[in-house]
Amino acid sequence: MKNWVWILVVVLVVAGVAYYFVKPKAEVGDIVIGVVAPISGEAATFGISTKQGVELAAEEWNANGGILGRKIFLKVADDKGDPTTAVSEATRLIEMEKVYAIVGTVMSKCSIPMSSVAQESKIPMISPTSTNPKVTIGKDFIFRACFLDPFQGTVGANFAYKNLGLKKVGVLYDIANDYTKGLAEFFQAQFVKLGGTIVAFEGHPAGVTDFHAQLTKIIAAGPELIYIPDYYNDAGLIAKQARALGFTGAFLGGDGWDSPDLVKIGGDAIEGGFYTNHFSKDDTRPIVQDFVNRFKAKFGTDPDALAALAYDAANVMFDAIKRAGSTDGTKIKDALKVAKFSAVSGVIQFDENGDPIKSAVIIEIKGGKHIYRATVEP
Ligand code: PHE
Repeated sequence: MKNWVWILVVVLVVAGVAYYFVKPKAEVGDIVIGVVAPISGEAATFGISTKQGVELAAEEWNANGGILGRKIFLKVADDKGDPTTAVSEATRLIEMEKVYAIVGTVMSKCSIPMSSVAQESKIPMISPTSTNPKVTIGKDFIFRACFLDPFQGTVGANFAYKNLGLKKVGVLYDIANDYTKGLAEFFQAQFVKLGGTIVAFEGHPAGVTDFHAQLTKIIAAGPELIYIPDYYNDAGLIAKQARALGFTGAFLGGDGWDSPDLVKIGGDAIEGGFYTNHFSKDDTRPIVQDFVNRFKAKFGTDPDALAALAYDAANVMFDAIKRAGSTDGTKIKDALKVAKFSAVSGVIQFDENGDPIKSAVIIEIKGGKHIYRATVEP
């Protein structure tokens, strides 16, 4: 082998060993909590925000002496937005890393299979942001910190019909994603109930970047608005391609639009679009503004809904461990069942499925910024 190859090998080995010693490790007695989020992949801003929200919560608890006098130690795993990876990472966290509880994950399509793993191992799990009903149903160890899509779809449909005064809507969703398909159907049900017409209801395959075929059909049906219940990367591309095909009507989406990258991808096409969400940094309540300031001080950016809900979900879990007085999974689950926590995104108190009842906000994309427009109570 050439000399430089040997040098490279030595450098890599030394770096690996050094990293092993420098990397923070859990100590005996720490309360080890698993965090699962899509830190890379199709919607990486979701995972980064989520990780930051949980880290801020853990840092604040640790600064106050931890939980039950023990330090919180986070084991963070990247599910890459892929359901199979979410399952294998949760399994690894539970079996190898011996986590006492899991905060995660973000996307419903990942949280649905992952929650079965946590349930079977009797490890309590709270998803900050997975909104599909199937995440928690029939699983008493599984909770979430956000509202559900039957509510979110209803809020979207009411907004389109009553506030925007529109009667004809086309819908484009991802056929392989429980969240986008579910939200499309919940929106449709309410919009039709109100007396509106869904002029086109089209699905696209997962992982594509060309939506012309579906959009051509939808636009030909003459909608005044296209509903795009999809993540920001697809939503940005869909808006762009719809405009290029001559569509001049409105766009409406759901919480999946919440990313600084929506406008980077969608550009002018997404301007004037509306979406339903969980949280706005412009909410003037002191609990929100205090959180926004602490988050900004630590990370240098404004928190989005993913960061706020991850912060809330982590706090609810830590508080339950404290009230349980134990790291036993069943005791934590029982403490979660009776939680009543004043969180940044609203009070979190669970129904029999482990779901809280929360309000929604309407956000408008104006001048390339996400502007708060209204709060909608359940
Ligand atoms: N609600 C989405 C899902 O269930 C995830 C999400 C929440 C994305 C909030 C962005 C903001 O898949």
